[in-house]
Amino acid sequence: MLYLAIESSCDETAVAVVESPRGKDEFTVLSNEINSQTDIHAEFGGVVPEIASRAHIEAIAPLAYKALSDAHVTAEQIDAVAVTTEPGLIGALLVGVNFAKGFALSYGKPLISVNHIKGHVAANYINGRINTPFIAFVASGGHTSVIKANSYTDFETVGRTVDDAIGEAFDKIGRRMGLNYPCGAEMDALAAKGDPDAYRFPAVYMKDGSFNFSLSGLKTHIVNMLNTAEMKGEKLCREDICASLTRVICESVAHQLDLCFKKYRYKTLLAAGGVLANSHLRLALTRFCKERDIEFHVPPLSLCGDNGVMIAAAAKYEFEAGSASDMSLDGKPSSKDDWTRL
Ligand code: KG4
Ligand code: ZN
Repeated sequence: MLYLAIESSCDETAVAVVESPRGKDEFTVLSNEINSQTDIHAEFGGVVPEIASRAHIEAIAPLAYKALSDAHVTAEQIDAVAVTTEPGLIGALLVGVNFAKGFALSYGKPLISVNHIKGHVAANYINGRINTPFIAFVASGGHTSVIKANSYTDFETVGRTVDDAIGEAFDKIGRRMGLNYPCGAEMDALAAKGDPDAYRFPAVYMKDGSFNFSLSGLKTHIVNMLNTAEMKGEKLCREDICASLTRVICESVAHQLDLCFKKYRYKTLLAAGGVLANSHLRLALTRFCKERDIEFHVPPLSLCGDNGVMIAAAAKYEFEAGSASDMSLDGKPSSKDDWTRL
């Protein structure tokens, strides 16, 4: 089966062509095109939805053409078209959804709807079969979710952020420190040079026994600290702030996952999302799993951020489980399914 997969939920237009034989956990990535808009949004310090939609419109057709030609396949040879339908920026999602519908209708191909969060987790599937059930932890610019996965297609969200996503907190704090959006990668590098014990920042897990997170207290704490220092004419060490901030995030993630694994007693963790590009978090979760004899999977750095390959991987299992959409398919900005069943 040849999948054409499209992702446009936020500020990356991505199209991939992926081959995967029906019934087998094998994937060949034939092309993986990503057109990032981060440079366009950087001057505004975050994603501007209207600009994102327009940039997706400009990018999508040439990118799909390039994905097909780099894969050396024609549109007719594609067996199914997959697209991210939720959650995300509605204008951005609709560009991908309408392109996918047009493609499916023109060439008479099945259309598969993919949830973006499930897509991130599916970036882990391409290296071979993973035992189910598993716990998945997804952290990106827009999402922070703890998921109980009964199978590759049956996901239940058991924890999430009640305010900012982890990536969003990195970006907002980084921006206040004068870094360029998106700030996560630069803060990762600064953290490596700083002292993680320099500051005691507030934990970002909810202390109510749930698996939820809350990032707004940490963000306010650090922004206030930076404002006070500025008023006094003091210069704070950015490396120490990044190291201490990263430490409290890693510890809080480990705290919530520990509760989750104690409750469900699963033996496998899949981590995914743009924030999993963070070297300190990857290491912290590797250690966490080793100490508890939990099998750990995290995508290669190239598949942590938004991409089409992960959408193809998720689509394969949805399709093989019998899920296909018709021309009434629509984008959904966020769904209550985001909170419960995915
Ligand atoms: O998954 P993604 O590409 O897009 C969304 O679905 O949101 O994630 C982007 C987020 C941004 O907030 C970015 O700052 C963060 O991932 N990020 C990182 C790192 N690289 C990217 N955060 C922490 N450390 C990194 N190395
Ligand atoms: Zn994403």
